[in-house]
Amino acid sequence: MCLKNRFLATASLPLHHMAGNIFGNIFRITTYGESHGKGIGVVIDGCPAGLFIDIAFIQKELDRRRPGQSDIVTQRNEDDRVQILSGVYGDISLGSPIHLFVPNKDARSGDYHHLSDAFRPSHADYTYTQKYGLRDVNGGGRSSARETIARVAAGAVAKLLLQKYQISVDAYVSQVGTIRIPEGEHVDYTLTESNIVRCPHQGTAEKMINYISEIKAAGDSVGGIISCCIQHCPVGLGEPVFDKLHADLAKAMLSINAVKGFEIGSGFEGVTMLGSLHNDIFEKTNQGIQTKTNHSGGIQGGISNGMPITFRVAFKPVSTIMKDQQSITQDGDLITLEGKGRHDPCVVPRAVPIVESMAALVIADHLLRNVNSKI
Ligand SMILES: Cc1cc2nc3c(=O)[nH]c(=O)nc-3n(C[C@H](O)[C@H](O)[C@H](O)COP(=O)(O)O)c2cc1C
Repeated sequence: MCLKNRFLATASLPLHHMAGNIFGNIFRITTYGESHGKGIGVVIDGCPAGLFIDIAFIQKELDRRRPGQSDIVTQRNEDDRVQILSGVYGDISLGSPIHLFVPNKDARSGDYHHLSDAFRPSHADYTYTQKYGLRDVNGGGRSSARETIARVAAGAVAKLLLQKYQISVDAYVSQVGTIRIPEGEHVDYTLTESNIVRCPHQGTAEKMINYISEIKAAGDSVGGIISCCIQHCPVGLGEPVFDKLHADLAKAMLSINAVKGFEIGSGFEGVTMLGSLHNDIFEKTNQGIQTKTNHSGGIQGGISNGMPITFRVAFKPVSTIMKDQQSITQDGDLITLEGKGRHDPCVVPRAVPIVESMAALVIADHLLRNVNSKI
């Protein structure tokens, strides 16, 4: 059935719009665009005037997310060149909406024709069809992780703002499948970009790369964990009770495609500890009041306490695999889906800049929200 007919056939159903494209309160982004449409874009509202908008930096961040950057990621050939359409005059933000746009180039709709009526298992096809009555079959439309281009472009601007406050956001791959950085190993964030899997522990990185290559050759996919640390965040960010800082970070992370888990500080492992060991004891240091341990992950009562903010994000093995899978069509007929197209065997290497961007957006927004919290 063509899209128009399908829309007409379901027009008597309640019409649902896709209402969740805006994120943030003051530093607020709206993202738009589909995987195989004209391109992906973002409008940033609330960015202060006078910020140096370093387009080379924005492009560098997008290059870290780009497909085709190594043998262990999808081979879709996009150079993802960013254009600034508004809000910037001579590299400086005007305080007006900043519009960033990245055109799509290598959109091969034909790759998806075999899926036009079928629901990919564990993808968004079934739920999008049920909710909206129709879906953009080509590459998943809005459910595709190409949308995250917009987050990375906006996140780069947020990072530029955070740099003014010396706040850094560093994410890295800490686990792929069951391969993880050994407990207690020192992590040097400057090494994250030194290998294609973005794991700063060289020995572990090699094992991860070999494993992902094996999984790719077998036509399968594998999940992983990204750890993130925000440093030099001032005390006081976070708006209890519903906009606690870790609640907003959790929402930001869980809104990323394929994310299945979020942990702050000691996270789920904390349940195995007793309070006497878990409590972070305060001490007065030359840098002010700090805690001896950081099981709280830098946030207490929903407010940053000045310690590093540490969290982890779990990504599932993505659903598209190069193996035949059983599914059903929209009419409920059994179908065998052939594994075709270009897909990521493991998304975590490309998701590192996405996690950093979402974290930077949350912190930038809370920085601006915090300005008037004390008279
Ligand atoms: C960087 C990145 C790349 C992705 N690439 C693929 C892919 O190649 N194939 C796929 O099936 N899913 C991929 N995904 C995940 C899907 O977008 C996601 O699973 C899908 O939208 C369904 O949403 P859910 O898994 O969050 O429920 C990717 C996710 C990210 C973050």
